[in-house]
Amino acid sequence: MPVNDSILQEPEVFFPSEAMSAHATISGMGAYRALAAEAERDYEGFWARLARETLSWHKPFTQVLNEAKAPFYTWFEDGELNASYNCIDRHVEAGNGGRVAVIFEADDGTVTRVTYDDLLQRVCHFANALKKLDVKKGDRVVIYMPMSVEGVVAMQACARIGATHSVVFGGFSSKSLNERLVDVGATALVTCDEQMRGGKALPLKSIADEALAMGGCEAVKSVIVYRRTGGKVAWSEGRDLWMHEIVANEPDQCAPEWVGAEHPLFILYTSGSTGTPKGVQHCTGGYLLWAAQTMKWTFDWKPADVFWCTADIGWITGHSYIAYGPLALGATQVMFEGVPTYPDAGRFWDMIARHKVSLFYTAPTAIRSLIKLAETDMKVHPDSFDLSTLRVIGTVGEPINPAAWRWYYEHVGGSRCPVVDTWWQTETGGHMIAPMPGATPLVPGSCTLPLPGILAAVVDETGQDVPDGQGGILVVKRPWPSMLRTVWGDPQRFSKGYFPEELGGKLYLAGDGAVRDSETGYFTITGRIDDVLNVSGHRLGTMEIESALVANPLVAEAAVVGRTDETTGEVVVAFVVLKGARPEGEEAVKIANELRAWVGKEIGPIAKPKVIRFGENLPKTRSGKIMRRLLRSLAAGETITQDVSTLENPAILDQLG
Ligand code: WTA
Repeated sequence: MPVNDSILQEPEVFFPSEAMSAHATISGMGAYRALAAEAERDYEGFWARLARETLSWHKPFTQVLNEAKAPFYTWFEDGELNASYNCIDRHVEAGNGGRVAVIFEADDGTVTRVTYDDLLQRVCHFANALKKLDVKKGDRVVIYMPMSVEGVVAMQACARIGATHSVVFGGFSSKSLNERLVDVGATALVTCDEQMRGGKALPLKSIADEALAMGGCEAVKSVIVYRRTGGKVAWSEGRDLWMHEIVANEPDQCAPEWVGAEHPLFILYTSGSTGTPKGVQHCTGGYLLWAAQTMKWTFDWKPADVFWCTADIGWITGHSYIAYGPLALGATQVMFEGVPTYPDAGRFWDMIARHKVSLFYTAPTAIRSLIKLAETDMKVHPDSFDLSTLRVIGTVGEPINPAAWRWYYEHVGGSRCPVVDTWWQTETGGHMIAPMPGATPLVPGSCTLPLPGILAAVVDETGQDVPDGQGGILVVKRPWPSMLRTVWGDPQRFSKGYFPEELGGKLYLAGDGAVRDSETGYFTITGRIDDVLNVSGHRLGTMEIESALVANPLVAEAAVVGRTDETTGEVVVAFVVLKGARPEGEEAVKIANELRAWVGKEIGPIAKPKVIRFGENLPKTRSGKIMRRLLRSLAAGETITQDVSTLENPAILDQLG
């Protein structure tokens, strides 16, 4: 019998160095446990203390958690604050206006430094301009922008006047943008002429024009355009406005609009298990608290640090760890317009060295693709760069495999920097399960322990705790301040989807599977338990891709599943039945390419299926249900060992395999 070395081998454990612990905010497991115990002893008192210490309140709150309308929980409800004031003004008032807020590096390497003083001025100019365009408190503004200081300014300006922003990732198609503009009921759109990535200019304004022309979003009165490249754009007089022109004569001051803690700060669309993305709505107080607090705990942020999160502002990671968390603390951060492989695959390492980055946060998929390129070219290998300023390195978005973890630890972190593997979601607002650099012993592949105040657990289908060591469903047992408040326009989808009756209606269902180690209590995430894929750290709903495919006139039926991939985590595999005959040979290749381009147009290039297989039918049970488990096995190239006796049409497996 083969020896199962995963059982025989002790897992490798990496302890924080003494130097790391000595200076860390959370200096050891004792300090971690004390915080966790404080939260357990007095849950509301714990959160109230953090909220008072971390944020500046215009009107102090007297209420903490309100469970009266569960699962529509509220936090700090009678308190008033402004997110933009917390992220900018208070640092200026404290005498830190000269501190660099953002070191922006453009695609071509041009570096711009923006201080907190500059940021305040730019946000006030833009906030005043928005007000002139009649954007009011509670109005929704869609931001379809590249990685840019202007993108952050737009977000902060919305927050300043109490407008709710909804950022749409610049890689989404016109159709996706249109759906979001319609669903959120936007009255203004902020976009850009073109974005620069990897030396190429990509149009954004023309995609935005297409999106607006699709209709349903007539409420959009103003389209504000940031001029990035000066490339030619179509112009709609009376609707389109240049950002630099409308801010030109605005005053340097704009009084922040004080809002209740529960006021919606933003809506961010994400994929779920149905065909339409959901608008995850976050509030102001609880969200900002956790974005800031986790900066201190998970990254052990200190004023001297240079922080760099490589995520796009179009995703939650860019919201919490670029636009809000670092600014709320008055941090200095790097922001990057381009891609990690341009001009070559050493770009990240070169930037860390040049900007003296001390806290670095990226995705496993980026690490894995850079490992491949570094292995064959020492010039782009992290060992060829001076990365000695790094203190803590983090990952997010998908499970990191132990081999990539070790490479990251050794070659990027110099076997000196703790790797913080952070598990969280769009819905959670900030980190949930993650190590603390000065305290938590690390085990590659595990995101370790819940942060203090986060009551994560693993349960079965009925909501009962499963014994440690056994896999199950990841849940959070008590509401926490930065959780989503609702699904925009669909409160039912919120309560049913996240607090399902089957689990008793009180547990937050994350949608991931997990297992907790019986000795250490460490969590390992085993992947999604719903029909959501994770491709290069991007969340995609299989149903969304299926509806895009069946919208093509050639397609009769489609089923989409994921297949594990070494670099991207998962790839999209689509099984397609055409209305006409099943194509073969060159014809099949041609139609597959057409369908790939079609999905790119319908959703965005990130959703394009890597593999498309054609069949005369899909494997179904006699009652007509598609057998997805079988499709997953087929996609993985496994021999079918499952029971196929309930299959209506077993012959189909040969066609699809
Ligand atoms: C996955 C990104 C394993 C998970 C912040 C989750 C992870 C989904 C990790 C959320 C991690 C995120 N280890 N899996 N450290 N971080 N995930 O909403 O499946 O884009 O549910 O938020 O990514 O993706 P989202």
